[in-house]
Order: sequence, then C-alpha cells, then structure tokens
Amino acid sequence: MAVYDTVGGLLAHALHSQVALHADYGGVVPELASRDHVRKLLPLIDAVRAEASGGPPDGIAYTAGPGLVGALLVGASVAAGLGMAWDVPVVAVHHMEGHLLSPMLEDDPPAFPFVALLVSGGHTLLVEVAGVGRYRILGASVDDAVGEAFDKTANLLGLGYPGGPALAALAESGDPDRYRFPRPMTDRPGLDFSFSGLKTAVLHAVRDAGPNEPLSSLSSPSPESRVPGPDLLADIARGFEEAVVETLAVKCARALDTTGAGRLVVAGGVGANRRLRARLRTLADERGAGLYFPRPAFCTDNGAMIAHVGALRLGEGTPPPAPATVRARWPLDELRAPRET
Ligand code: KG4
Ligand code: ZN
Repeated sequence: MAVYDTVGGLLAHALHSQVALHADYGGVVPELASRDHVRKLLPLIDAVRAEASGGPPDGIAYTAGPGLVGALLVGASVAAGLGMAWDVPVVAVHHMEGHLLSPMLEDDPPAFPFVALLVSGGHTLLVEVAGVGRYRILGASVDDAVGEAFDKTANLLGLGYPGGPALAALAESGDPDRYRFPRPMTDRPGLDFSFSGLKTAVLHAVRDAGPNEPLSSLSSPSPESRVPGPDLLADIARGFEEAVVETLAVKCARALDTTGAGRLVVAGGVGANRRLRARLRTLADERGAGLYFPRPAFCTDNGAMIAHVGALRLGEGTPPPAPATVRARWPLDELRAPRET
C-alpha cells in the first residue's frame, strides 16, 4: 500500500508481509493469502493515508494481475469501493509493469529507451522499453522463472520458504569454484532462458555428494534429497548462484547488443540478489552503460510500484470506468501506451 504524488513523489508506503503465514507450508497457500488480505488491507490503507496526510487521492491504482485470483479480487474490490465512495477514477495496473518501472521511484531514474531484466518468482523477461506501455518482449523463460528456480533449489537443499534469500545467504560462505553448473542456453543465439535443467543438475550434485554430517541447523529436507553437510551445501548453493548470475549477465549483454540500448534496468524479487547486482554493475561499467535498480525493498513486491504506475497512467488521462476486473494471466506485451488506449 502506498500514496504516490506526481509532484512530491512517494509520500508514504507500507508492506504487510505474509512470509510467516506461509512459511509452515513451504509456499504460498492461495486461500490463506486472500483471507489475510481481507484482514490486513483496510488497516494498512488507514495507516498509510494517515502518514501521507491530505484528503482523498485523485485516483486509486490496484494490481489487476497476473497473480492469484483470490488475492487480486480483494484489492480490486476495495479499490472499486473506494473509487465509488470518493468519486475518483480507478486504474487497473499490471503487476509486471509495476516492477518494470520501479527504478523510476529512485533518485536517479532511467530515461527511455532502456532494456529491462525482470526477474521475479513467476516471470523471467527481457523487455525493450521505449516508453510507458511501449514494451517489446525480447526473451522469456521457456520453463521455470529465476525466482522459482531459486525457491525450488533452496527446497532441494533443505532451506525454508522463501528460498531465494535463504539460498543467497548460504551461498555467501560457499566456494565458487567447487561446483560448475551449466549456464543454460548461453551457447546458442537468442534471448530466452531455461532454468529447470539447472535445478536437476543441483539435485544430482546433492545425491552424488551423499549424506554427510547431520543438518541440525537446517529445516527438514525434502524426502527425495539425501542432503550432504553444511559446507558442501554452501558450495552447491554458491555454484547454483554463480550459474544463474552468469546466465543472466550473458543474456543482458546480448540484449544490449541486439537493441543498441545504453541503459539496463533490473527489477523483480531476484533483483535484490547481491551477487547479481554486483555482476551487472561490472557488466554495465565495462560497456559504459547505465544501470538502474530499485532499492532491494522495491525489488520484491510492494505497493509503491503499483501506485507509481497508477499515477503515470492517470496523468495521461482518466481511464474509462472499469468494473473490478482481475486477470490471473496477462501477457505484458498486451499493454499499450496511454494515448493509444
Ligand atoms: O517479485 P517478487 O517479490 O514476487 C513475484 O512477483 O514473484 O519475487 C519473489 C521471488 C522469490 O522467488 C524469491 O525467492 C526471490 O524473488 N528472491 C530472491 C532474493 N530475494 C527474493 N532470489 C535470490 N536472491 C535474493 N536475495
Ligand atoms: Zn512481483
């Protein structure tokens, strides 16, 4: 939840995390997620509006998709209700467009055009961005998203939910040279990704390493994995992280070459990964390209990025009154620039 002002910028924002709620289940439980949204949304809106002060906003943005339909409907219904009560327009925002434009919330925003690497739990996309709503998908994952690969690999290593940050933390103490996992689809042309094979390579490494010291400090591993001791686990985690980071870097370099763009934007949950940020910094510096990240808290899901897109789109003209629509699936390249819609 956030209040964004086109002149003053971000006035207030807050996040209610459901990580603890879902942790026991090892992943998001859709019904629990939407029920928790119902409980938490209105108090969060009150708190953020109090912090931002001022009267009702000029418009309300909500996430209309893609995502879990039950959770989306809670936000859509509340947005529609508030829109009616305050007699202000309601803007349906694409979740990935929120991520895509989130670096613009920072002090040094990127100018158009740029290439964006979007790496979240559900999507891995390389996008050529000419302006708001002017998106050309250059490449996407043909199987698992990067975040999903982090989460599944973390599970294989016996780490809890959410796996990405836990795996990254474990990798810190790992040896980068002990395991060299494949860099999928980097040896052939194109900008698509594939991460499911990498996960299998990790599974084999775990099995080959065999059981070792007891893993008393880690949560119970998934049944099919006979997990080796903590040192080996850290080495495997580091090898996995290196492979992902290198694969993403190769594709980013190729996307900059293909488009001739001089700016690279990175967003989405995996954009919070420290090693990925450092590797792409080196890549950008080597080429004299601009590199733009949101702060880590705005890489992972947040309300500020949705309020920001809502304000941009509202600034281009009032959208027609819409029912509280949501879309579980919604290809990013169906979006149009505000003046075209
Ligand atoms: O964008 P996001 O918050 O939610 C979706 O839209 O999916 O991304 C969540 C994903 C999860 O898969 C999580 O494990 C991953 O981002 N993630 C990370 C890190 N922080 C979050 N992956 C690697 N390193 C991190 N530091
Ligand atoms: Zn997201």
